Amino acid sequence: MPALAPSDIIAVVGAGAMGAGIAQVAAQAGHSVRLFDNRDGAAQAGIDGVRRQLEKRVAKGKMGQDEVDAIIERMSPVDSLDELADSRLVVEAIVENLEVKRGVFAKLETLCAPDTLLTSNTSSLSITSIAANLDRPERVAGLHFFNPAPVMKLVEVISGLATEAEVADTLYATAAAWGKKPVHASSTPGFIVNRVARPFYAESLRLLQEGAGAPATLDALLRRAGGFRMGPFELMDLIGHDVNYAVTRSVFDAYYGDTRFEPSLVQLALVEAGRLGRKSGQGFYEYRKQAAPVTADFASPVKAELPPLVIEGQPGVFSPLVARAEATGLEVIRHESISGQARFRLGGLTLALSDGRCATERALDEGLETLVLFDLCLDYGEASAIALAASANTDDASRDLATALFQRLGLDVAWLTDTPGLVVLRTVAMLANEAADAVLQGVCSAGDGDLAMQAGLNYPRGPLAWADGLGLAYVHRTLTHLHQSYGEERYRASFLLRRKALAGETFHE
Ligand code: NAI
Repeated sequence: MPALAPSDIIAVVGAGAMGAGIAQVAAQAGHSVRLFDNRDGAAQAGIDGVRRQLEKRVAKGKMGQDEVDAIIERMSPVDSLDELADSRLVVEAIVENLEVKRGVFAKLETLCAPDTLLTSNTSSLSITSIAANLDRPERVAGLHFFNPAPVMKLVEVISGLATEAEVADTLYATAAAWGKKPVHASSTPGFIVNRVARPFYAESLRLLQEGAGAPATLDALLRRAGGFRMGPFELMDLIGHDVNYAVTRSVFDAYYGDTRFEPSLVQLALVEAGRLGRKSGQGFYEYRKQAAPVTADFASPVKAELPPLVIEGQPGVFSPLVARAEATGLEVIRHESISGQARFRLGGLTLALSDGRCATERALDEGLETLVLFDLCLDYGEASAIALAASANTDDASRDLATALFQRLGLDVAWLTDTPGLVVLRTVAMLANEAADAVLQGVCSAGDGDLAMQAGLNYPRGPLAWADGLGLAYVHRTLTHLHQSYGEERYRASFLLRRKALAGETFHE
């Protein structure tokens, strides 16, 4: 389906943070935009705000004043919904309240032409519910921008039960023409991003609750080993715990209490205490001026004579670690023909990549005296930190040897308590699991699921492409081990991931 033409008039209802930004996006794409807000002066204030933002770009030499004037010229504040009658597309971005939104859509339906596309920017309400009771629910869809709308690339195009495919396709093409990265999703709680992202917060909150590591350490590991732009605790502090907790709570309730989405009591306590994050001056971290900086808990430098590093099996994803060892002049002996999961031997010590079992369990399973597990890294050639965990009877000398090895490779070492899946592996496995279930349930395609997480939240890789790269059998095994370790439904593997792992398939070609 073709995109709407630049000559088509776009209407935006609600001129708050989102509405003004969406109006700007449409005006920048060449449309005339009508902006309505039921608060006196709010539409004009929204346009003034857009002008101020754009003029900052002029000051930096990134935009011409003429261009800004032309964009602002195309945006007009209007005093009533009636003045939106000749629009081709309406984007509603008012208060997040189903009854109020339904009232606005009912009014728009009577005012606009029968083929005007009516869309909502809702984050959490059902498009199917918003469209219910309308005469033509087939032209209603979600057009979910991310904050700030002019900057964030992702737009989720949400189809409700009645939405016609051509309507969703036209919106998709239009968002693309506006320079956005659109994805299709069906109207289900959290759509794609707010659903698939839950484990990013939930697994770290869980690790904190279980005393596996401190927020600053877990944040540093997800950034410096996992490649995420921000760690979960600093991100939750930025979003605000009230908002982040409310989203989790609403997704949890909407999925009838599925424990995958269970909110965290640790986060609830912050909300109860009013420690909402940056905006209140305190969350997991302190933001007052005198606050002492909190640093990650990395091991102090250990000096030790390192014996040759023996590699048994094919190191696969962590082969860049072997290259790093060789680059430091460490003697490396390869026994690549040994089958099974690859592992390192360093003197009497065995080291292996986590597979979702805790080190103590895996040492018992594999008949090892001691075992040190290391965590997943996005790119073992680039990572600058890594998490380790040791089996129950590992002595200090063995821990020091493991620390010295990874430090020699140029990595800061964080020792976590012996916890299944450590932090990056566990987070990535659970993100992929959630994305797999979204695909299984027809919410989105694998490609759109991955694109949504990258364009909406800046994830370094789409969770499903990441799982493909690791091998679905390995990701499935990791989840199965997490499930066995905790005995909780929360860690059950998605059936689609299981089936693809069994069939030797991947999510992407
Ligand atoms: P906001 O509170 O900044 O702006 C809402 C605006 O709508 C206000 O100016 C208000 O006066 C106006 N309004 C309220 N009821 C109205 C009505 N009946 N008719 C006309 N105008 C009305 O809210 P924000 O943050 O812009 O959110 C708007 C929508 O976008 C909500 O549905 C929200 O869930 C969604 N959203 C918000 C995001 C965010 O990060 N803030 C991100 C993505 C979606």
